[in-house]
Amino acid sequence: MISYLGWTAYTFGDQDEALKASIKRGQEIYQEYCITCHMANGEGVEGTFPPLAKADYLLKNRTESIKAIKYGMSGEIKVNGKTYNNTMSNLGLYDDEVADVMNYVLNNWGNKSKKMVTEEEVKSIKEEKNS
Ligand code: HEC
Repeated sequence: MISYLGWTAYTFGDQDEALKASIKRGQEIYQEYCITCHMANGEGVEGTFPPLAKADYLLKNRTESIKAIKYGMSGEIKVNGKTYNNTMSNLGLYDDEVADVMNYVLNNWGNKSKKMVTEEEVKSIKEEKNS
């Protein structure tokens, strides 16, 4: 029993470490690929580039947000009550990079998401609308 508990504690801590490492890699990707539009503080540019900091769209539409980063996004969306109708091109990131940058934006500027985005999850999300 004791060894069983020890094992659970170990894998738990392991997952924490994995998320921390992913967020760290994601920060570098953010600085290279996202900062020009979504800005260092994640607040974007009102009317042109939507915010990621405390953005209801990002926090409530996990799959659509992954899709946006993986394939690009265009057309009308509403973020924190403001309408955006612009284009974000396909950034050409690998699935693991999409996962890392998602973990970064989901856990920065006051955002919080315990459920880690994984490469497998990104891989499973296809471009065609599935809902
Ligand atoms: C050239 C500017 C540009 C770059 C670079 C860019 N984006 Fe975007 N992003 C946009 C625009 C514009 C939209 C809204 C598109 C629309 O109006 O349909 C958007 C939408 C989003 C959304 C969904 C809406 C929201 O605010 O929650 C997410 C999430 C997102 N971007 C994340 C990223 C991440 C992460 C990166 C870097 C890997 C990135 N973007 C790089 C311009 C950009």
